Amino acid sequence: MNKIAILYGSSGGNTESVAKKIQKLFDGRADLYNVESVKLEEIKPYPYLILGTSTTGVGELQDDWESFLPTFKKADFSGKKVAIFALGDSVSFSNTFAESMRVIYDAIKDKVKIVGQVPDEGYTYEESDAVIDGKWVGLPLDEDNEYDLTDERLSKWVEELKKEFV
Ligand SMILES: Cc1cc2nc3c(=O)[nH]c(=O)nc-3n(C[C@H](O)[C@H](O)[C@H](O)COP(=O)(O)O)c2cc1C
Repeated sequence: MNKIAILYGSSGGNTESVAKKIQKLFDGRADLYNVESVKLEEIKPYPYLILGTSTTGVGELQDDWESFLPTFKKADFSGKKVAIFALGDSVSFSNTFAESMRVIYDAIKDKVKIVGQVPDEGYTYEESDAVIDGKWVGLPLDEDNEYDLTDERLSKWVEELKKEFV
């Protein structure tokens, strides 16, 4: 059985394609679930979770995540390590860039070990609640303006996660 589950919510497909890239980078060690249809029972056995969302509204969680989070929060998280990534648009939504991951972070931060926080270097934006003390709570990605940086950001991030997800 794989130990890593990638759960994603995607309205237009960007988060889904990034989730698939992450799965590839884990060389068959990760399973993929869309939160639109996943059952809590299915993710129970996994010690390692990667949660991906896009940002909608004004810094809000993707719609399927919005519906799933109240159920997800009730999971037994004991011993689990969790990494988060968020898609956003740092030009059109420069004041709420990738903020959706903060919503997930706040919902689970007291119950799990969060890993995969990244330094706030190399990103251009005005403001984001997803940055705490100079670090993003997970990996922000911008497929609208910085798609050429995504692969490099992902491989760096996954290399770090591989040290945690053993
Ligand atoms: C209605 C709408 C609202 C958005 N609001 C934000 C936002 O507040 N902050 C942000 O960083 N990106 C925002 N975005 C950009 C999306 O998060 C971005 O385009 C993302 O790649 C979409 O991913 P998806 O195709 O997986 O849904 C918004 C996009 C739309 C369509």
